[in-house]
Amino acid sequence: MAIIIDGKAISQSIKDEVKAEVAELKEQGITPALAVIQVGSDPASTVYVGNKKKACEYTGIISKSFNPDENITESELLAIIKELNIDPTVNGILVQLPLPKHISESKVIAAISPEKDVDGFHVQSAGALMTGEKGFVPCTPAGIIELIKRTGIDIEGKECVVIGRSNIVGKPMAMLLLKENGTVTICHSRTKDLKSITKRADILVVAIGKPKFIDGSYIKEGAVVIDVGIHRGENKKLCGDVDFETAEPKAYAITPVPGGVGPMTIAMLMKNCLEAAKAANM
Ligand code: GUN
Repeated sequence: MAIIIDGKAISQSIKDEVKAEVAELKEQGITPALAVIQVGSDPASTVYVGNKKKACEYTGIISKSFNPDENITESELLAIIKELNIDPTVNGILVQLPLPKHISESKVIAAISPEKDVDGFHVQSAGALMTGEKGFVPCTPAGIIELIKRTGIDIEGKECVVIGRSNIVGKPMAMLLLKENGTVTICHSRTKDLKSITKRADILVVAIGKPKFIDGSYIKEGAVVIDVGIHRGENKKLCGDVDFETAEPKAYAITPVPGGVGPMTIAMLMKNCLEAAKAANM
């Protein structure tokens, strides 16, 4: 029986740690604040944004909401960000993605001051992660490192395989595992003989975007399996990119879906907001 990595409990511990530090900051007259911008009313984004605001409320971080109509122009949106960049009462700026097609996501992300880039999506943040400079790390891969470490698993010297090469998960994940002295391989849709590579993995991070794609036959006996996917199955039940039923018996430890990686993203966002507020008041 594998260890089931409890992302809900671990994310709760992190939120409680943040909450305690926010309370201390408040005693010094510092109140961390996050500006959350949601363009339009995409239902999935509304749920995500709602959860982020709830976490702010829990940890004591002020959330300031901006919900412009989906017809807002790119330059109008950039103007909002510009104002938030110079607003000393705002420590973090989050623009919920995806944005409407007429707005360039990369331009919008580039407009956010790197000091307030709590999502860690700015090219300066990505570059800092690459070179080992200080900067914000994207929340999902940062949360995965916490899951691994807080389960008592050492990354150093391990064969780490990441499936997926997105800027938000795969690439920063690989950098973080490398920083922990793992030996890292990135696989993607053009990888040949995926199974021969995943079978080597001591730590396997799956962000492939296909429900239950990675079954037990892809997994080495005793591996740590981290499932980033989340899908609504035929039976309306949530499932990940990993076929839990066949993967779990092979694994040393595995994340469930839901309740694994998912809750960690918001917890790490709260941590980044706290760090932004601390840095702004140093
Ligand atoms: N859309 C889906 N996930 C995310 C995220 O982590 N941050 C932002 N800003 N948008 C998202």
